[in-house]
Amino acid sequence: MLQMEKDIKKVLISESQIKEKVKEIAKRITIDYEHKNLTIVSILNGSLIFLSDLIRFIPFPVKIDTIRVNTYTGDSTFPKKEPDVVNNIGIDIKDEHVLVVDDILDTGRTLTRIIQMIKEHNPLSLKVCVLLNKPTRREIEIVPDYCCFEIEDGFVVGYGLDFDNKYRNLPYIAVLKEIC
Ligand code: IMP
Ligand code: MG
Repeated sequence: MLQMEKDIKKVLISESQIKEKVKEIAKRITIDYEHKNLTIVSILNGSLIFLSDLIRFIPFPVKIDTIRVNTYTGDSTFPKKEPDVVNNIGIDIKDEHVLVVDDILDTGRTLTRIIQMIKEHNPLSLKVCVLLNKPTRREIEIVPDYCCFEIEDGFVVGYGLDFDNKYRNLPYIAVLKEIC
């Protein structure tokens, strides 16, 4: 038993469900981009685990870059109105198809901001892939091109998602006891 399990109220999505779905999404991405230049831009820190699993199911060479964004202050579960973008992309993407990978699409503020930023670099195309989608929380209209799971409103942790920067290393997606 993991030491962290005492803090968990319920497992929402199991390790095997995640693995199966990530494989399926990677297959769709492979079909859509196989003979194209693909750069995957991952939003840190939340998409770390998702990205590393996803790219290992993609059989052709892809370029990887990262953008770091801070969404919450300390141990709050309420996102800041404007997410802080800490660094921009570092590679030239004007001859690249770009796929942005994030952990969760919640209010839509982070990805809307990132999409604006990336568009300024004139990529050949731009799509979005998320592990989780909470459509009922949306404040800015945005629909992900690839999504592993739609979930209801409520704060989740694990598989890269954190509370106060902790629980990212849980191998599944769960709801914590003290929050809900
Ligand atoms: P948005 O800008 O509101 O769409 O927020 C997206 C970001 O907020 C994600 O990239 C996550 O880092 C964070 N986030 C939103 N919901 C959750 C959650 O339930 N657990 C952990 N992080 C979350
Ligand atoms: Mg994030």
